[in-house]
Amino acid sequence: MNVIQEYAEVISKHLQNVLSYEEVIKLIEKPKFQEQGDLAFPCFALAKHLRKSPAVIAQEMAPLIQDSLFAKVVAEGPYVNCFLNKQEISKHILQTILTKGSNYGNNSFGQGATITIDFSSPNIAKPFSMGHLRSTVIGNSLAKIVEKCGYQPLRINHLGDWGTQFGKLIVAYKLWGNDEAVRKNPITELLQLYVRFHDEAQTNPQLEAEARMWFKLLEEGNEEALNLWRWFREESLKVFSRIYSLLDVEFDSFNGEAYYNDKMETTVELLNKINLLTPSQGAEVVDLSEQNLPPCLIKKSDGATLYATRDVTAAIYRQDNYHFAKAIYVVGHEQSLHFKQIFLVLEKMGYQWANDMVHVPFGFILKDGKKMSTRKGKIVLLENVMKEAIELAKQNIEQKNPSLDNKDEISKMVGLGAIIFHDLKNERLNNIEFSLEDMLKFEGTTGPYVQYTHARACSILRKAKVSGEITNGLSDSHSWSVVKLLMDFPATIQRSMQQYEPSVIAKYVIELSQEFNKYYSHVKVLHVDEEMNDRIALVRSVTIVLKEGLRLLGVKAPEEM
Ligand code: ARG
Repeated sequence: MNVIQEYAEVISKHLQNVLSYEEVIKLIEKPKFQEQGDLAFPCFALAKHLRKSPAVIAQEMAPLIQDSLFAKVVAEGPYVNCFLNKQEISKHILQTILTKGSNYGNNSFGQGATITIDFSSPNIAKPFSMGHLRSTVIGNSLAKIVEKCGYQPLRINHLGDWGTQFGKLIVAYKLWGNDEAVRKNPITELLQLYVRFHDEAQTNPQLEAEARMWFKLLEEGNEEALNLWRWFREESLKVFSRIYSLLDVEFDSFNGEAYYNDKMETTVELLNKINLLTPSQGAEVVDLSEQNLPPCLIKKSDGATLYATRDVTAAIYRQDNYHFAKAIYVVGHEQSLHFKQIFLVLEKMGYQWANDMVHVPFGFILKDGKKMSTRKGKIVLLENVMKEAIELAKQNIEQKNPSLDNKDEISKMVGLGAIIFHDLKNERLNNIEFSLEDMLKFEGTTGPYVQYTHARACSILRKAKVSGEITNGLSDSHSWSVVKLLMDFPATIQRSMQQYEPSVIAKYVIELSQEFNKYYSHVKVLHVDEEMNDRIALVRSVTIVLKEGLRLLGVKAPEEM
């Protein structure tokens, strides 16, 4: 049920030949003050048609707008205001939530069409950066959101596992590497080799030439080069997998850049055939000056392909194989130009579906106002940060609820939930300040706060001992504030889908938690009277919606904490 739709329908029936349903629904708003009702329809747009003042129109119209869901409809100046029938609506909403459970808010408008989500995509032999964390968390949530809207998400980890840097790494490893050290600490060790390569190459340019040769050998399928590359990839993936399993994130494909190695020639040929390639200082580029963009580099002067070549090829591959209705790329805003370029190249190649490609950018993670960097010696290993969050959550829980069973399991849910929620609660384009202390607080706009609210509601239900049959519905103002939010959940999901913005849901669960906590401090849920069962139904509905909202963000909802 959607009361706005209902209101629009009744009004538009009354306004036949003047305004359509679509026009009416766009006009409906919320009255300025709560005392004025729940919905308002402004009559200004009608004045010209009906040749009457908006206030007169409102006066005449109000008594005619009737429905069992509306308690009363009154004219308020130029507005027709509606007071909803709290009892009827709460009865209906709570019943719907209890019946549908976690399926409440599901939508079928995706009709099973595929959406590819390219996210996380860290680089082999390099640390998993804060940017990759953001991409992972946002992409994982978007996959769940599009699924809830009836699409089929296809999660792709476009690993950065190809490029000239692997030539350098092979040279460095052959010169200074140590098998056991890499096995023990793959990322730190490989990064050090890479950094050393750059240091030494400054005084020994011969190294660069060797690196180019080894990358060429790699591209040609040389066994030794391939074996080393495979090994670096495997060891790196082992580390990344630990992070994914902590975050409970899965992928349908790990086809990274290397996967397109043997497919790029076709792309280059195609570009050539339709005369899109222009030579430029020995390299081959697609000219985008008409669109005021720098050219898209397709082939270097030494014949090597590039990041963009692989992305263009990957997009074609994905359309051919997955027939995506949309292709989403969750990548930091610093790559906006890159995506503009590859989308344009695809469009110039004549692919209609280039219009279905979406770059979903996001801001940086800052530490004390500065970008958290993984360059040089200053690497922050994400795994350590995650472990620290879990440890801090455990200390919190130890203090607040020392007798809790399975503290380890719950500390994990809370610690990681805190990191994820902190990332998702702000619009993704904003930069976020990384502070473990802040994100782990049990009060304020944090993950633990929402989790705690959910656990508290669960504990009421445990005490209630009855399941909460809905009898009359609720009509008091405290429960109404909660019911109105519960009613908003399906539209909230749609909005977050349309904007590719998990923060819409994060903000919603915060608001619902706040309203529920207010409710709980004003109302004795388990007081025995004829409304007790309805109140229990309300509490149960809140647990269902909070849990589902958190799930869509990738955050777990423990029943006790
Ligand atoms: N590996 C890249 C990086 O770390 C991100 C890849 C994003 N996906 C893509 N299809 N380009 O910057």
